[in-house]
Amino acid sequence: MDKRKVIIDCDPGIDDTLALMLALRSPELDILGISIVCGNVPTKKGAENALKVLKWMNRLDIPVYLGEETPLVRPYVDAMDTHGEDGLGESWYDCITSVRPKENAVQFLADTLNEVKNNNDNISIIALGPLTNIAKLIQLHPECLDGVDEIVSMGGAYKSHGNCSPVAEYNYWCDPDAAKIVFENMFVHMVGLDVTREIVLTPSILEYMCNVNSKIGEIIKKITRFYFDFHWKQEGVIGCVINDPLAVAYFIDRTLCDGFSTYTQIETQGISLGQSVIDAYDFYKKEKNSYVLTTTDAFAFMQFFFERVVEVKKEESAPVLKQIMVQK
Ligand code: BDR
Ligand code: CA
Repeated sequence: MDKRKVIIDCDPGIDDTLALMLALRSPELDILGISIVCGNVPTKKGAENALKVLKWMNRLDIPVYLGEETPLVRPYVDAMDTHGEDGLGESWYDCITSVRPKENAVQFLADTLNEVKNNNDNISIIALGPLTNIAKLIQLHPECLDGVDEIVSMGGAYKSHGNCSPVAEYNYWCDPDAAKIVFENMFVHMVGLDVTREIVLTPSILEYMCNVNSKIGEIIKKITRFYFDFHWKQEGVIGCVINDPLAVAYFIDRTLCDGFSTYTQIETQGISLGQSVIDAYDFYKKEKNSYVLTTTDAFAFMQFFFERVVEVKKEESAPVLKQIMVQK
């Protein structure tokens, strides 16, 4: 199988952790490194969490790089109210000491992209946090963009409401200036709240995970408890929305989601700060710079996740998931 080279840029974070687990269990991906950005938690904490995931999945050979510690312009606002003080739902797993994070994620991105570009190859970026590292890359090393195959970004919202304001999703709200730069310079596959809100890890699904794979199931249970409580208080959801793994799944399997090509820009000021303004009706007559996802097959996603992360074949998970998932 021809593996696709990827760098995963993230802010782990509970759902980032689930996304990393999925990526690490996907044979289609050659993960060259994990770059960390400030978002859900400060960068250094995010890097510690990435190392914990690598240890759980037996992949400490993949390097973790520390990225930007503040957004480009706005003051930094973390999301530890959602993800807990440790970023992993206050599970307080021990830090990894045998391997440490490396410095300078932006330089790593630039060096790796330039190297592949010189070999007529390319790399994709799966971005699961605020886009600060990627915007810095564009500002400091614009030449290396030729080495990017695709960028998939979890962020934004089209018709769905925001999760930080009526209109803004966290990743783009946290660093709207970075998101604006990225959309102005790259064609972005936008995996926004319209689709990720469909992906709900419910208590029944979690129980099923624990029954079939106690090691991974118990880790997921421990890190998502806090997230469950937050979702109930904040959104009246039983369980939790897991945004980031859908971006990884979509990168690998395009049949899981649908959307349309359009022009998108990110608002950086005022009450709609962080909003992804999607010109679905072509008012601005601008060149399309994004593929915005609008629908997803949550059942197929869950089967995909189960097959890889908890190692249950699709034909085996189908009858159980049919019992415990609401079919639309
Ligand atoms: C996004 O913000 C973070 O809290 C999650 O990790 C996800 O990337 C959802 O708005
Ligand atoms: Ca994230």
